[in-house]
Amino acid sequence: MADSNDTVTIATGEGAPGAALLGIGAYRPGRVVSNEEICEKIDSTSEWIYERSGILNRRFASEDESVIMMASAAAQKAIVSAGIDAELVDAVIVCTSTYESMTPHSAPKVAMNIGRNGIAAFDLTAGCAGFGYGLAVATNLIRGGGSKYVVVVGVERMSDGIDFTDRNTAFIFGDGAGAVVVGPSEGNDVGPVVWGSDGEKADAIKQTKNWREFIDEATEGPAAQPFLVMDGSKVFRWAAVQVSKVCAETLETTGVTAEQIQAFIPHQANGRINSAMAKHLGLPDTVAIANDIEQTGNTSAASIPLAMEAMLRDGQAKQGDLALCIGFGAGLSYAGQLVRLPAAPPVD
Ligand code: UT7
Repeated sequence: MADSNDTVTIATGEGAPGAALLGIGAYRPGRVVSNEEICEKIDSTSEWIYERSGILNRRFASEDESVIMMASAAAQKAIVSAGIDAELVDAVIVCTSTYESMTPHSAPKVAMNIGRNGIAAFDLTAGCAGFGYGLAVATNLIRGGGSKYVVVVGVERMSDGIDFTDRNTAFIFGDGAGAVVVGPSEGNDVGPVVWGSDGEKADAIKQTKNWREFIDEATEGPAAQPFLVMDGSKVFRWAAVQVSKVCAETLETTGVTAEQIQAFIPHQANGRINSAMAKHLGLPDTVAIANDIEQTGNTSAASIPLAMEAMLRDGQAKQGDLALCIGFGAGLSYAGQLVRLPAAPPVD
């Protein structure tokens, strides 16, 4: 006779004691777009944009530089940088809000492009906090035994959804992809995530219309595409005040002090937000602060891995450094983690 249900034991997964970032890769589109070019369509100046946001240039993807192409290129570089056999990768998480199709989602094709057709692969949407959410899922899969080596990609083509005549948003966003390989480790090199969202403020960053409204409009006649709009000051205040507290909580949760970290990698939304957060945390001058926004703009879910890659490549941070990462944006969502940095990516 079969055992009754309450005597049947379901095995737990055989997880690793800890997780670590093993490698990093980036894909930056070829076309550099200056503030001057942006100002051809809006009433603004390069000086105003730089002073208020910290942005000088951003990159825009060409037709060929699709979400899947950029994500696959960054993922491939991350695997090379990790120095592992690509065959070990058993899951791909693509964090994005700008993939053009809901069905199929992008990750299975990215898995196929990196030579791992058939593995678990899914997209994750949490706005600019997307990469932090993806990293949290990956580390917990590894600790729980669901996966061993996970590629987490942040990728965006923000330029597809921007109204370049809207001076509130035209200058902010850029395109690109950053990826990490997360794998098992004896010690623990990725701290617990501190994350959340605020549905009450969710409309502070939104599309001008949702796809249902777009379809209804299009059936009546010509319809303009939905564009991204943002209540910049509202999001700025939320980030500088509330998300600064999340940064402090992330350190507290990990048991590491501001004096013990070497790098601070906030989502690259605004140079002034980064400074406000660093001040709130009381970061000593020895802590390097990511400033990829200057040349890359705000690439939403791609911004943290891109900024991390830039710091490692330029020698502002090095392998083994402790870095506080904080993603925040649409949702309004946030995710903070303390990580030990992987090796610098190989030179292209
Ligand atoms: O990635 C998701 C998370 N996003 C963020 O965290 C973004 C947060 N917000 C921001 O980064 C900033 O709010 C912006 C950079 C978007 C805007 O900077 P701001 O200092 O908050 O400007 P503001 O919207 O308060 O506008 C200040 C002034 C206004 O003029 P008045 O009313 O003071 O006369 C605007 O009309 O600047 C004017 N303004 C501009 N002037 C020149 C707004 N946009 C522009 C512009 N050029 N492009």
